[in-house]
Amino acid sequence: MRELRPVGIYATGSYVPERVLTNADLEKMVDTSDEWIVTRTGIRERRLASADQASSDLAYEAAVKALTKANISAQELDMIIVATVTPDMMFPSTACLLQDRLGASKAAALDVSAACTGFIYGIATASQFIANGLYRYVLVVGVETLSKITDYTDRNTCVLFGDGAGAALLGPVPQGSGFQAFELGAEGSGGPLLSLPAGGSRIPASTDSVANRLHYISMSGSEVFKFAVRVMNSSTEAVLEKAGVSREELDLLVPHQANLRIIDAAIKRFGLSEEKVVVNLDRYGNMSSASIPVALDEALEAGRVKEGDHVVLVGFGGGLTWGATLLKWTFQRA
Ligand code: ACO
Repeated sequence: MRELRPVGIYATGSYVPERVLTNADLEKMVDTSDEWIVTRTGIRERRLASADQASSDLAYEAAVKALTKANISAQELDMIIVATVTPDMMFPSTACLLQDRLGASKAAALDVSAACTGFIYGIATASQFIANGLYRYVLVVGVETLSKITDYTDRNTCVLFGDGAGAALLGPVPQGSGFQAFELGAEGSGGPLLSLPAGGSRIPASTDSVANRLHYISMSGSEVFKFAVRVMNSSTEAVLEKAGVSREELDLLVPHQANLRIIDAAIKRFGLSEEKVVVNLDRYGNMSSASIPVALDEALEAGRVKEGDHVVLVGFGGGLTWGATLLKWTFQRA
């Protein structure tokens, strides 16, 4: 059997739409307040795609930035994986639309559906193809236009979500560096806690489904909250243990950005100082599969990651799903 080769992230890129929706704007739309939103979630504003922007448009912007920083051309890509729950359409996949737009003519392309854990599922999948030698360069994009499936008359959900895209270019790295461990999981029994009920084969689009507002996100917030705290802690612990890295050796935690109180619970549990945790939900809200790659891109741009750092990416979301990975970061390539 061929030996597995180490895989890492060469470069990242991110994009958020220009339009800003503040808490003050939301106060005019539903019965809420800036005070409630900030104390319960930590969110102050979020970005919204324009009417003519679809997920593949946001994905394209983030992908071009990642490829440019990595100095790899689209034609060199072997595979494109797009994690999204807001594809441009049911099919073709958003990955195929992106492949065409980038001109990545030799790349295989597929979408991954794991809601807010999508980016972690995507990089876990991508890294297998590189590790076993089948492919060299895989582009993974987490992208969402959640504003298109958010009910702006429902205060329970409309304050939480935003739009954006983050991309990462994966390739082989030197021995001892790159991804050290993955932890993926699912609890399908919790599916109804967070779902988009209609538009698929169970409840196809109809005048009734539209009238009953079934094409919007439906969520049991407090149940998802408890689940999120539980699995964020357990999956972070799992990758630390698998990689043989202690809590003290963890240099940077890049968590899914759903709610500051969920992140605070992890900070407490792992005894982390604030500079070891990336938080950007105050500016973007929850961008589902885009939250982690956008946060990682901002951390890299700000120089918060050094050669050899232990970096954990951890997410949770609809499905229900969860996932984490631990990287020994390297800027080297193999
Ligand atoms: N403004 C004012 N009041 C509000 C608002 C709002 N925007 N939203 C809810 N409330 C009210 C509720 O109606 C409720 O009032 P009631 O007691 O009179 O019924 C009260 O506030 C408390 O509601 P809770 O649900 O108990 O509030 P909680 O403290 O749990 O916070 C929240 C709600 C922010 C949604 C929290 O549960 C949460 O963050 N959950 C996790 C959500 C999440 O992570 N979802 C995404 C997962 S990722 C993905 O896959 C998309």
